[in-house]
Amino acid sequence: MNFELELKKHTDEVEEMISRYLPAEDGFQKTVMEAMNYSFLAGGKRLRPMLMLETYRMFGGKSKVIEPFMAAMEMIHTSSLIHDDLPAMDNDEYRRGRKTTHIVYGEAMAILAGDGLLLFAFETASKAFMTEPKNPNIGRAIEVLASKSGIYGMVGGQTVDVELEGKPIPKEKLDFIYRLKTGALMEASMMIGAILAGATDSEVKRIAQVAANVGLAFQIEDDILDVVSTTEELGKPVGSDDKNHKTTYVTIEGVDAAAKEVETLSERAVEMLDSFVVKNEFLTELLFSLIHRKK
Ligand code: IPE
Ligand code: IPE
Ligand code: MG
Ligand code: MG
Ligand code: MG
Repeated sequence: MNFELELKKHTDEVEEMISRYLPAEDGFQKTVMEAMNYSFLAGGKRLRPMLMLETYRMFGGKSKVIEPFMAAMEMIHTSSLIHDDLPAMDNDEYRRGRKTTHIVYGEAMAILAGDGLLLFAFETASKAFMTEPKNPNIGRAIEVLASKSGIYGMVGGQTVDVELEGKPIPKEKLDFIYRLKTGALMEASMMIGAILAGATDSEVKRIAQVAANVGLAFQIEDDILDVVSTTEELGKPVGSDDKNHKTTYVTIEGVDAAAKEVETLSERAVEMLDSFVVKNEFLTELLFSLIHRKK
């Protein structure tokens, strides 16, 4: 399999599935819809909906019920990026190769666009009931989506992240931050894929562990790229962590040791994925490819 070509095909497929759920830009409040769509449509790797779809397929899922959840996940992720870039948080001016939402639409509208995306995500996920009105797994999936995004997930992680800005952080606490601010949405993505495909509770637990390793590796690599990459390549500013006096894996142990951790965690994730009877070769390749990702 030519992975690059496959990845492009899969990204286009995901793009097509999720962009259909965006709100129309009309009504007196259309500025907020424009701001929501501006950031969402700027692109991005679409990794979380892709992980969701491929996990769903791995467990034999075949229905369209997954699609509103894929869109919802990318909306929540985009909302987290809009808020993460605000002056009160990381104060960054570029995202996905464009000026950030608050630079283009102003701070108030960026706050509202983040809120709008977050809530529209749940409105969108609920549309799954139109495809399968009697499927009880949809309710479970919505619960996972909410809890992994909120105070026990992404919002919780961002809380500790901003609170400890400029302070030394022991590694266990840094792991806690990464598992929540970044890992939680990856966990939700893969768990929802498994849940909607009808996986057992123990399979969902195991897939959450795969995703937790992927998420931690992903954030450590994000720290590395913040130091070694370029703004052109990333589409967002490099040196953001240094500017904000963040303690990261790179400041604690240096680029080389951090890269080694990314490799170890990713290999562990692939090994755990391999232990399932059901397989998805593309998903395995995708997890491997993240070790050496350039953006
Ligand atoms: C950026 O996520 C935020 C982190 C959790 C590090 P991505 O690197 O997945 O951003 P996009 O979606 O491709 O823009
Ligand atoms: C934030 O981590 C992860 C989110 C929940 C948005 P970063 O602050 O390092 O993400 P980037 O580097 O701005 O994408
Ligand atoms: Mg941040
Ligand atoms: Mg940031
Ligand atoms: Mg970063």
